[in-house]
Amino acid sequence: MIRHRFSPFQAIKNMSYNALYTDLSGYYDLMCADINYQAQSNSAHRLQQIFGNGGQRHLDLACGTGPHIHHLLQYGYQCKGLDINQPMLDIAQQRCPSAQFELGNMCDFVTDEAYDFITCFLYSIHYSGDTQNLNNCIKSVHSALNKGGVFCFNSVDKNQIDNGLFAKHSVIHENSKFSFGSSWYYSGEGDKQTLKLSIEKSTMEETQCWTDEHPMVALSFYALSALLAPYFDVHIFEHDHDKLLPWDKKSGNAIFLCIKR
Ligand SMILES: C[S@@+](CC[C@H](N)C(=O)[O-])C[C@H]1O[C@@H](n2cnc3c(N)ncnc32)[C@H](O)[C@@H]1O
Repeated sequence: MIRHRFSPFQAIKNMSYNALYTDLSGYYDLMCADINYQAQSNSAHRLQQIFGNGGQRHLDLACGTGPHIHHLLQYGYQCKGLDINQPMLDIAQQRCPSAQFELGNMCDFVTDEAYDFITCFLYSIHYSGDTQNLNNCIKSVHSALNKGGVFCFNSVDKNQIDNGLFAKHSVIHENSKFSFGSSWYYSGEGDKQTLKLSIEKSTMEETQCWTDEHPMVALSFYALSALLAPYFDVHIFEHDHDKLLPWDKKSGNAIFLCIKR
């Protein structure tokens, strides 16, 4: 039997961006099973060593279940994670008992302590939703950093989005087959793009499907650089976690490294 459970997302439309990470937080790590978090964390650490101030205070924005913190703790960072969804933070705290976690909005956060290294991965900066909120996020990050501290995140250029691309992978877990799908959609106009996600869970008896659409902020890399420029020296790299290559000015995925002036 195929049972479509669209209700969690459609019943609470205004909160649809929360639903996946609250109702389905238990599936999040399965959904990300094909992501090489070790390589991403190594590359972020390397960038911090090259461009940063040598400090160890780290904050991960939109930290989710804490995969980057898990790896960065091993380099000796004192890590804190901020996320808007408590169920994600609960899993992160279990995974990383020595780190601190806080519920909060990355577009509007104030900290008592200053950080040397702030990260935001898996394109989570786009969850800011619109340019105004993204600007607020950038200002909050700038205020939260020590002098010479770095902000490292990855991003997708709206003009390079291929609406026809769809990534899918499957995992067997506790006698169920999970299939996860994701794709970007950009209409070609304005500062909004959509992240479309789908989860299908099949057992011998039934198949359950969830779909979700997250409203995300859309920018070109030139527009994003212009937003960051008043606060940071900005370096853009190819989205390659094994090699440090300057952005070729064509790729639609990139790693941004921003040094607080
Ligand atoms: C795709 S997940 C990424 C999680 C983690 N960074 C990773 O790489 O696996 C996006 C995360 O962003 C969080 N999020 C969405 N909007 C947010 C906001 N405004 N402030 C803080 N966290 C937010 C979600 O709760 C979710 O945990």
